[in-house]
Amino acid sequence: MEEHLTVGRVAGLAAVTVRTLHHYDEIGLLRPSARTSAGHRAYSARDVERLREVLAYRRLGFGLREIADLVDDPATDAVAHLRRLRGLLVEQRDRAAAMVTAIDRELHARARGIRTTPEEQLQMFGAQLYDTIGSAYPATRRTEPRIAARIWEALGDAEKVLNVGAGTGSYEPPGRLVTAVEPSAVMRAQRPAGSAPCVAAAAANLPFEDQSFDAAMAVSTVHHWPDAVAGLREMRRVARRVVVFTYEGAGWRDRFWLTSDYLPEFGRLLTGRPALADLAQAIGARTEPVPIPWDCADGFFEAHWRRPEAYLDEHVRRAVSVWTRVGAEAEDRAVRELRDDLESGRWAERNRDVMTLEAAELGLRLLIA
Ligand SMILES: C[S@@+](CC[C@H](N)C(=O)[O-])C[C@H]1O[C@@H](n2cnc3c(N)ncnc32)[C@H](O)[C@@H]1O
Repeated sequence: MEEHLTVGRVAGLAAVTVRTLHHYDEIGLLRPSARTSAGHRAYSARDVERLREVLAYRRLGFGLREIADLVDDPATDAVAHLRRLRGLLVEQRDRAAAMVTAIDRELHARARGIRTTPEEQLQMFGAQLYDTIGSAYPATRRTEPRIAARIWEALGDAEKVLNVGAGTGSYEPPGRLVTAVEPSAVMRAQRPAGSAPCVAAAAANLPFEDQSFDAAMAVSTVHHWPDAVAGLREMRRVARRVVVFTYEGAGWRDRFWLTSDYLPEFGRLLTGRPALADLAQAIGARTEPVPIPWDCADGFFEAHWRRPEAYLDEHVRRAVSVWTRVGAEAEDRAVRELRDDLESGRWAERNRDVMTLEAAELGLRLLIA
């Protein structure tokens, strides 16, 4: 017979009161499937799974009625709930990181006697991560021609191209009919005059008819999407060809001195993210490695692998979301340790091989479907 947990045990494990569980039972949100011989509520593994969903949605701020609709939806199985919860939590974490950054910025400004405007003060609420960090983006982020060439080649003869998570439009191909999609108002506002029209939307819900583009591209953005698989399927739905520039999380620890020796917290950002193989499979894509040239013009996280001093520069870091997402403490420590090692010669000693390379394999990949 299936094993059941008593109401007291479940309450203890989930860190809620027995009264809460009684309430959930009374309102029909979570009815335990059995009773003990003494008449106490007893929870099966399936009941516990449902409780976990209820509590997780609750923690995300959903109301009990909304939660009932969510957990009763027959089209959403346990894995789909986990994926959705994960996406929502990642979004919440990124928003919290963005708020911390905004608060730090204001504290810094106040310490120098500068008052922030009402607009600046309110910007942190409801902001996309890139609404907070996006203004630092153009300082070091631009088209890297060798990577652009790979992306444009993969687009083939596509004429109508959709660029999802387009940002300031660094990789939009010239000579084609481009439409951009970008959820952050700050990023949209920074698109150069004359660039492609840009729609305010997110990858998971592209406001276009099926097959309305010859190709859809997404560059350095998929890792920000709450549900990357859903976003890629949307791209597949609206376009005949899909080209994605992203990176392979597996093996990160052994690939790049910055994350292995100075910023192991990077691993936390990968936790629970779909594997590259799953992303590729979701859209039937093939995968091609993209080596990063030593003098890469686009200042993304890995770009300065042979120019370590660049990571000491605040402008370089602020244009890369990783540094905000790991938090100020990890960032400060990593930068301090890197500075010390550069000064002492320890970095050079440890990374002799790196300095002889023209391009490095750091897990960057093109997915082409
Ligand atoms: C690192 S930037 C890359 C911008 C541009 N593709 C480039 O290569 O310069 C990541 C972009 O993804 C956008 N983004 C974040 N979440 C998104 C989502 N759910 N759907 C589409 N874009 C998103 C951000 O607002 C940001 O502009």
